Amino acid sequence: MAENVKFRPSDANHITRSYLDSILIEERLIDSGIPSTKIELFGETYETPIMTPAFSHLHVFAPEREDGMCEYARGAKNIGALNWVGMSENEEFGRIAATGARTVRIAKPYADRDKILDQFAFAESVGAVAVGIDIDHSYSGKGGYDLVQGEKMTGLSSADLRELVSSTRLPVVIKGVLSVQDAVKCAENGVQGILVSHHHGRMPFAIPPLMVLPEIVKAVGGRMKIFVDCSIDTGADAYKALALGADAVAVGRALMQPIIDEGALGVEKYMRRMNDELSMIMAFTGCKTVQDIEPTALWINGRRCEK
Ligand SMILES: Cc1cc2nc3c(=O)[nH]c(=O)nc-3n(C[C@H](O)[C@H](O)[C@H](O)COP(=O)(O)O)c2cc1C
Repeated sequence: MAENVKFRPSDANHITRSYLDSILIEERLIDSGIPSTKIELFGETYETPIMTPAFSHLHVFAPEREDGMCEYARGAKNIGALNWVGMSENEEFGRIAATGARTVRIAKPYADRDKILDQFAFAESVGAVAVGIDIDHSYSGKGGYDLVQGEKMTGLSSADLRELVSSTRLPVVIKGVLSVQDAVKCAENGVQGILVSHHHGRMPFAIPPLMVLPEIVKAVGGRMKIFVDCSIDTGADAYKALALGADAVAVGRALMQPIIDEGALGVEKYMRRMNDELSMIMAFTGCKTVQDIEPTALWINGRRCEK
């Protein structure tokens, strides 16, 4: 019996999957048409609101692929999606940028602040779209500051956010926002985008991003770009996040097997399938553009979502 239990009850991934699946979609077919999934972000146009995740260390997690980080960047480029990259040294980030994929660089909350500033400056020099930090990697599973690949992390203050924002001409995106409080602090300190996420369940019982998203959108929507990840595995998942106010979404671990199996082509195929399903649901719900997707087409717990 025990070996059949896939998740602990506190597992935020399991809770998030269940919440996503509890959201239902009504159909609005009359006067509908063929949709476009194009979006604009930070002044550039993308073919899809579905983005790659801020992955890292694929040489460890997908050793079958010699250069998985560049392969998934190429996959993103081939389908016209915005690419994200997590923890990386400048040499690796330079190679990823050289693929031509439009890329956001998410650095770690390194205790060595000069390293963050250096990584931001390097990203700017090789044409990154935006830079940021995953603030949900400050603390370890024991409540101390985290140690990632032997490197010390630390917490970020509002003053740190201001310093980071003023250090670069690129938009700064904070990944790992999971409350209105943090979203407002980001907005007040000049951050231009947040990624609402629990980072595949780093904290037990973390709230599903889509549960808190509407409140975050109400508080800071229009003042910054709002992205979402965590268990966004299908076009339907993406649609629900967009309907609740996300500007774009990132797929995550669902891309691991396609990367391992087919590299860039696997990424391209998986994301295209997601985008096709998103297009289908847009057509079924009368949305001709991504901007037309809105919350009243969704039902949660038998009740229509409000605008
Ligand atoms: C192999 C792997 C490496 C990751 N590396 C990073 C990273 O360096 N920085 C980061 O912000 N997130 C990192 N993440 C987290 C993802 O960007 C994403 O937030 C998380 O997987 C949640 O999405 P999912 O539930 O769809 O997988 C990593 C995830 C995986 C699976």
